Amino acid sequence: MSRSVLVTGGNRGIGLAIARAFADAGDKVAITYRSGEPPAGFLAVKCDITDAEQVEQAYKEIEAAHGNVEVLVANAGVTKDQLLMRMSEDDFTSVLDTNLTGAFRVVKRANRGMLRAKKGRVVLISSVVGLLGQAGQANYAASKAGLVGFARSLARELGSRNITFNVVAPGFVDTDMTRSLSDEQRSNIVSQVPLGRYAQPEEIAATVRFLASDDASYITGAVIPVDGGLGMGH
Ligand SMILES: NC(=O)c1ccc[n+]([C@@H]2O[C@H](COP(=O)([O-])OP(=O)(O)OC[C@H]3O[C@@H](n4cnc5c(N)ncnc54)[C@H](OP(=O)(O)O)[C@@H]3O)[C@@H](O)[C@H]2O)c1
Repeated sequence: MSRSVLVTGGNRGIGLAIARAFADAGDKVAITYRSGEPPAGFLAVKCDITDAEQVEQAYKEIEAAHGNVEVLVANAGVTKDQLLMRMSEDDFTSVLDTNLTGAFRVVKRANRGMLRAKKGRVVLISSVVGLLGQAGQANYAASKAGLVGFARSLARELGSRNITFNVVAPGFVDTDMTRSLSDEQRSNIVSQVPLGRYAQPEEIAATVRFLASDDASYITGAVIPVDGGLGMGH
């Protein structure tokens, strides 16, 4: 069965690994990108998820090529780390606007087609940081914790319509987002991870694909940690 899948931020990092996992399984995969040359093998649509008009245009393009989105992975996200004392209002609101309100924009637009089809799978990419907190990441943690309440509310609201909403909470994953950390920060992190290493993006992608598969048909409102044991189930 070839489904219409959308992965936001599917042009690199975890999103690209997720897009590849669905494409390898035979799905029709659309990805969003903001600039540069997107990777080949997908329907790449230019879209900044902080702009509702760009989200609308992206969906129109995807629907014309692949039909209604049946599986949505809200993956796009940013960090703007700063201690609270130095965190500006813009540092806070811009991270919320991308990570939480951006997810709202893409989920809301996908919901239209899913309601009509009477089925749908939504997976939101949160973070272990949203559950445990992290000094210097109050904005990011708030946005990622917000995704949990968002998904669980929608799981209740739309369960009867056969649409599932689940959250994946990765630990530290080897991508551009974490490559900017110093060697000292990286080894501090690894020392707290029971499995003693970073995740590869493909390890997050495998869980996302499972949540969108028939094998996960009775799972909704769940938060699945993929964090090497860092959060111990939280
Ligand atoms: N890496 C980790 O350790 C880790 C751990 C837990 C959770 N996560 C979460 O996993 C997701 C992917 O992270 P990553 O590590 O793959 O990060 P990444 O390599 O920095 O990639 C971020 C992705 O998000 C996209 N993006 C950012 N802002 C956007 C916007 N306004 N509109 C559309 N796309 C936007 C980027 O697109 P451009 O290429 O256009 O910038 C890029 O595709 C994020 O939500 C992140 O918070 C990551």
